[in-house]
Amino acid sequence: MADLTVSLGRLQLKNPVMPASGCFGYGEEYASFYDLSVLGAIVVKGTTVNPWPGNAPQRIVETPAGMLNAIGLQNPGVPAAKIKIRRLARYNSPVIVNVSGHSVEEYKEVISVLEEESTVAAYEINVSCPNVKAGGMAFGTKPEIVFKLVTALRPLTEKTLIVKLSPNVTDITEIATAAESAGADALSLINTLVGMAIDIEKRRPVLANITGGLSGPAVKPVALRMVWQVTDVVNIPVIGMGGISSAEDAIEFMLAGATAVAIGAANFVNPTVCPEVVAGIEAYLHKYNFSSVREIVGLAKRADNT
Ligand SMILES: Cc1cc2nc3c(=O)[nH]c(=O)nc-3n(C[C@H](O)[C@H](O)[C@H](O)COP(=O)(O)O)c2cc1C
Repeated sequence: MADLTVSLGRLQLKNPVMPASGCFGYGEEYASFYDLSVLGAIVVKGTTVNPWPGNAPQRIVETPAGMLNAIGLQNPGVPAAKIKIRRLARYNSPVIVNVSGHSVEEYKEVISVLEEESTVAAYEINVSCPNVKAGGMAFGTKPEIVFKLVTALRPLTEKTLIVKLSPNVTDITEIATAAESAGADALSLINTLVGMAIDIEKRRPVLANITGGLSGPAVKPVALRMVWQVTDVVNIPVIGMGGISSAEDAIEFMLAGATAVAIGAANFVNPTVCPEVVAGIEAYLHKYNFSSVREIVGLAKRADNT
């Protein structure tokens, strides 16, 4: 059996597969399909200091090879989320909490509330959040703002700090480098791409929010390209995501340089996709005689890879 273990900073994972934030709730719904201990990690919904009600409906629409969502980071707030997170202690998988906020202070507060929780192994900082002080522009669109945010959060925790990047930027490598130099242990990419759909009968946008985030197979080539580019310029591990719905997709991301992968929208289509991807990666390693999954990370970049 091949060695499936990977590490993200100090965090050791038994395999490189995890659900993507916001597509797995707090794991409750999926626990009836399989034992969540098979996951490399469990990533929970974006968590804020106070409850966020999210956007008005309609908030989701299917698109060719994907979906648009404008959930608006609805969540119960960190005190209520903490109770749900504690229930995940029964599984033998580290829990990664996705953190959101409107200001640096709000991000800081979520981390301080969760710092004493032994169930929380790592934070994934979602920088695709509207920055109130910067007029609602997302934190993740400017390298200097990402640098400032990560610099403020780094001293608050010794747990693994992952920064989740937005693809809605001109050059994702600049943002990646800013997060790394501010002390991030790992990067996640990509979050959703801004898009929209119009109802031609009603002659208005389908989503009440007008725009939403595109995810699913449609975004995979863009995500893969960004993982390739980012892993060329940083020395910290990358969790690749965006359109992964099979082991073959996950392997592409690892060959492009991702150390681990996350699966989002595909969970809605196939609730057992995550364990299937773990098994498929293992079968691939066996087929090509790799002894460790780490051997395939970035292999497509090497000329002598056969
Ligand atoms: C319904 C929905 C909710 C999401 N909520 C969050 C969230 O709370 N925080 C976050 O960082 N990303 C969130 N995302 C983005 C996903 O974690 C992931 O980065 C993106 O969907 C790309 O992966 P996929 O194509 O496999 O879905 C959400 C995506 C969807 C579809």
